[in-house]
Amino acid sequence: MTSDAPHAPAVIDTTRPSVARVYDCFLGGKDNYEVDRQVFEQVDAVAPQMKLLARAGRNWLVRVTRFLAGSAGLDQFLDLGAGLPAAENTHQAAQRMNPDARVVYVDNDPVVAAHGRALLEENDNTRLVNADLTRPDEIFTDPEIIRHLDLSRPLALIHSSTVHHISDGENPAEMMRRYVELLPSGSYLVLSHFADPQDGGEGSALARCVEDIFANGAMGSGYFRTREQIEGYFGGLQLVEPGLVPLNQWWPDGPLLSHTTADQVALGGVARKP
Ligand SMILES: C[S@@+](CC[C@H](N)C(=O)[O-])C[C@H]1O[C@@H](n2cnc3c(N)ncnc32)[C@H](O)[C@@H]1O
Repeated sequence: MTSDAPHAPAVIDTTRPSVARVYDCFLGGKDNYEVDRQVFEQVDAVAPQMKLLARAGRNWLVRVTRFLAGSAGLDQFLDLGAGLPAAENTHQAAQRMNPDARVVYVDNDPVVAAHGRALLEENDNTRLVNADLTRPDEIFTDPEIIRHLDLSRPLALIHSSTVHHISDGENPAEMMRRYVELLPSGSYLVLSHFADPQDGGEGSALARCVEDIFANGAMGSGYFRTREQIEGYFGGLQLVEPGLVPLNQWWPDGPLLSHTTADQVALGGVARKP
C-alpha cells in the first residue's frame, strides 16, 4: 500500500485493511472500507470493550497534550502515526493551552493524507508529513519537519498506539532507543502501547485473543507486549507521575465510574529527558 519513497503519493489499497482505517472503525469514524470493517467486526464480536479502549486512548492523548502544553510549557509537538482525525486532535488540545504551539503530524497512510490533511492542517502552526516513523534519523532530518519544528529545542515526541504496530522483526526497541537519543534535553517522550498483563487472568486472555485477530489476521500487526518491554521503550528516562499505567488512570478527568477488562490491555506514560 505504501510506496518505497516516503514522500511519494501512495495509492489507497482497498483490498487489504490498513491500521489507520481499522482504528477509525473502532472510533466510529467514516474513513474506512469493507476490509477494515471486517477486522473491526471480528474483534467487536468477541471483545466489544475494545471500542472503549480506543476512545480511552484518544482521551489519554488529549490529557497528556494538555499537561505538556500547559504545566510542562512545551510549544512543539511531533505526533508520529497521527491516524485519521478524531473528535479532538493533538493540535487542538495543544493550541487551546498555547495558540502558538506548533504541531507536526507524521503518517504513511494515504487515506490519512487524503482525508486527514484538511482537518489536521487547520492553521499555519500544524502540518501533516508523509513519512515512515520507523526511521528516526530520517524523521529528525526530514526537510518538511525541520521547517516547522526546531528539533534542537525541547519538544514532545508522541508515539500514541504506534509501536504496537511495529513487529519484533523491525526492532522497535532499537527504534525507540534512537528516538530517545535524538531528543534534545528537556523534551518529553509520550508512549501508549497494547499490553499483556501476563497474569493468567481475563486481561491476558483478551490480549491474546485480540492479538491473534490483529497480528495473525489480515491487518498483520497489533502486538500486546509486557510491561517490561514497554517500559524499556522509554530508554531509562524518568517517567512523570503516575508512571506507566492503564490509560484511564493517567491523571483522569474525574472519578472512574466504570471498569472493563480492556483497561488492563494498554499502558501509557510520559517521560522527560533531563
Ligand atoms: C492505531 S493508529 C494510532 C493513531 C493515533 N496516534 C492515536 O493514538 O489515536 C496508528 C497510526 O500509525 C500509522 N503508522 C503505522 N506505521 C507507520 C509507519 N511506519 N510510518 C508512519 N505511520 C505509521 C498508521 O497509519 C496509523 O495511522
